[in-house]
Amino acid sequence: MATRKQLHLGAFMRPVSLHAGAWRYPGARPDANFNLAHLVRLAQTLERGRFDAFFMADHLAVLNMPIEALKRSQTVTSFEPFTLLSVLAGATERIGLVATASTTFEEPYHVARRFASLDHISGGRAGWNIVTTANPDAALNFGLIEHMEHDERYVRAREFYDVVVGLWDSFADDAFIRDTGSGLFFDPDRMHTLDHKGKYFSVRGPLNIARPVQGWPVVVQAGASEAGRQLAAETAEVIFAAAPNLAAGRAFYADVKGRLDALGRPRDHLKILPGAFVVVGDSVAEAREIRAKLDSLVHYDSAIASLSIALGQDASRFDPDGPLPDIPETNASRSARERVIDLAQRENLTVRQLAQRLGGYSGLAFVGTPASIADEMEEWLESEGSDGFNVTFPFLPAGLDAFVDKVVPELQRRGIFRREYEGTTLREHLGLPRPENRFFRKD
Ligand SMILES: Cc1cc2nc3c(=O)[nH]c(=O)nc-3n(C[C@H](O)[C@H](O)[C@H](O)COP(=O)(O)O)c2cc1C
Repeated sequence: MATRKQLHLGAFMRPVSLHAGAWRYPGARPDANFNLAHLVRLAQTLERGRFDAFFMADHLAVLNMPIEALKRSQTVTSFEPFTLLSVLAGATERIGLVATASTTFEEPYHVARRFASLDHISGGRAGWNIVTTANPDAALNFGLIEHMEHDERYVRAREFYDVVVGLWDSFADDAFIRDTGSGLFFDPDRMHTLDHKGKYFSVRGPLNIARPVQGWPVVVQAGASEAGRQLAAETAEVIFAAAPNLAAGRAFYADVKGRLDALGRPRDHLKILPGAFVVVGDSVAEAREIRAKLDSLVHYDSAIASLSIALGQDASRFDPDGPLPDIPETNASRSARERVIDLAQRENLTVRQLAQRLGGYSGLAFVGTPASIADEMEEWLESEGSDGFNVTFPFLPAGLDAFVDKVVPELQRRGIFRREYEGTTLREHLGLPRPENRFFRKD
């Protein structure tokens, strides 16, 4: 039997879940943000489920939402990701460990060092989610009054990336001779000093860390804009996409893989994993009830703030228990407004229900039985909507346990997901090549 195309699964994590009502769900851990034992258990369960990677999203400021919403959000605080992932590296053996680091507010030397360290500590399991940071409030925490303009952030990101990978290549893989007899620790001809001088950075090098186990930690991107997609096509090995449905997913997939063709990069050197919120039930009706209960736990004050943002006008004026009134177009996002109006009509939602849906988790969702969820994932995989998913769980730990215990076996039974890890590094899980050192080529 020919081997079937394989799904890749990342876990898109926040300690309590990304859903705004999750910390209030029965059985959830409201203290999860600083509960290390809980987070270790989640990573170990994901590893038991043979996930490719554990990804901890991260921000450099509290989220820029009105205080009425922020005061009810569990996302307001969490561990700094490197400290956390270093501990998780010791508590797991195979699962990849991906952290976010910002190219707008960090220095490339720091970022290169931290990821190289994590890669050595974890035996080759590190991944860097390159973000340019969308939240303008982050600027206020770094001595700036204004956030750098969007496209310029991506120009800086490109130079930042070049410096980081150049630093990772500071030493040839065989540079460290450690010859106790002659007293020679490393071969100076196998060390490269970068001497980078560019528009944004001046970095001499070399990096004071041996070449990472994976050569380079896996490079991940989540940008959606034109500039973000192009940077991803040029540099990324994984994209965390935000497609809300299969049609949008296929269009994004075709666009990004087409950019790879134009650049002469093999298509399978970049895996596209859309974020997917997965709610598992014993029946579709039960899964929908779980979701409705979870959505109902999003406080109205924060829910209505999300609806107002999506519609570009103050939704607190509407009758919460009536249907959505006619909404004229505004200057805010047109696609968001249309998506919201369409959702309200399709599912016949009241203003309150609609707001709670948006305030909870409004992106791509698979809500159903293990079989129906596997059907949808398989359809995405086979129709070139994605190469897998960045799965996010409705509440923790129960939502994650349900996925690992019920959905993963169904995917394995269909032959589209591994039963055992075959390699030890994140690159091997993802089927990505180990990059050659650009300064010490073998030929
Ligand atoms: C699955 C996913 C994960 C993301 N994780 C982060 C994150 O951890 N930190 C962050 O600042 N932005 C994160 N983002 C935001 C993206 O980096 C990016 O800013 C956003 O998708 C908008 O794209 P653009 O910057 O190209 O306009 C994430 C986006 C997605 C879809």
